Amino acid sequence: MSFVEIKQQDQEYIMHTYGRYPVALDHGKNATCYDVEGKEYIDMTSGIGVNALGFCDKAWIEAVTAQLQKLQHTSNLYYTAPCGEAAKLVCEKSGMKKMFFANSGAEANEGVFKAAKKYSFLKYGKGRSTIVALENSFHGRTLATLSATGQDAYHNYFFPFVDGLVFAKANDLEDTLSKLTDDVCAVIMEMVQGEGGVLPLNQQYVTAVYNACKEKDILFIVDEVQTGIGRTGSFFSYQQFGIHPDLVSCAKGLGGGLPIGGVLFGEKTEECLSAGDHGSTFGGNPVVCAGSVEILNRLNDDFLAEVQKKGEFIKNQILTMPHVTDVVGMGMMLGVSLDIDAKDVIQKCLDNGLMVLSAKTKVRLLPPLTITRKELEKGLTILADVLKSM
Ligand SMILES: Cc1ncc(COP(=O)(O)O)c(C=O)c1O
Repeated sequence: MSFVEIKQQDQEYIMHTYGRYPVALDHGKNATCYDVEGKEYIDMTSGIGVNALGFCDKAWIEAVTAQLQKLQHTSNLYYTAPCGEAAKLVCEKSGMKKMFFANSGAEANEGVFKAAKKYSFLKYGKGRSTIVALENSFHGRTLATLSATGQDAYHNYFFPFVDGLVFAKANDLEDTLSKLTDDVCAVIMEMVQGEGGVLPLNQQYVTAVYNACKEKDILFIVDEVQTGIGRTGSFFSYQQFGIHPDLVSCAKGLGGGLPIGGVLFGEKTEECLSAGDHGSTFGGNPVVCAGSVEILNRLNDDFLAEVQKKGEFIKNQILTMPHVTDVVGMGMMLGVSLDIDAKDVIQKCLDNGLMVLSAKTKVRLLPPLTITRKELEKGLTILADVLKSM
């Protein structure tokens, strides 16, 4: 099908909830892909932080297809090996104790909210179910996760939103501590606010809120949907903050391109859900989990050190480019501030064969973790040339 035919079909049959760029992608390898007309692009988006191993990684395809040829789905009424294997690897790498599999980041966050509420209900009874989230956060598109998203732009049309969510100012300790009242069961935060503009939290703030939560038996939840699975140069970003959360949500990179979400339970919460409390038809699907096992086995210390190194390289290169006023983020999750409109830069990059993202007023980069030096140099040259021309 030509681009025009693909677009026409999409226009006719797809509900238009996305502002798509005028490109139809066809195939790719690692961080290089091609549209239906054969034009080449360097990918610095990884499908919004999903394709951790890039497009069509050989070993990942082999793991997925080997499982696909054995058994594609069983329901959660029966055991399968890949599900437990993936959970074991995530727990070993994170220090968490148990895992529940969902299918997306929003679902993972629904899971952490339910777990936090039940933990508190069992220990303290009714009336201690408020969750404190941060202003400018993003936690998903379901009703509860939209309600927990601290951006007014998302709080339209779908009334009534879910009750029992209170917002604190990110990196404002006094404000956050003032929100930890007797009715609060949990606090949720992203260590780097991704959709909010690639804004890392500061260490002192995180430590102080974490300690205050510990004192009051308020559960500390980290949303690692965008920051997790090696993206920031450690397995989870919270590991660079020296904390042990009670609950963690993850998704995106864990599946490498197949849908998955995960709720991780720490020491306090590992017993809090029982049979029937939560579930998902597709959660823990053996094909998706077989792919996750391949990704998880690859994410060793050397791999993570490379992510840090590549992140530094990208940052240092971009800081020398015209119109760039700042580059922030962690590892290979970077936000570029510009003195010109990021939207124009993103469109021009695409025209010239480079895919990048936006986050608020910034250009956001989430390249596949396996992007090669050669691909990086090619992509950064396009970005530099675009910025020079503006
Ligand atoms: C921090 C964070 N949480 C949750 C989500 C929602 O994930 P999903 O789109 O898989 O539901 C996202 C998506 O971008 C995210 O960045």
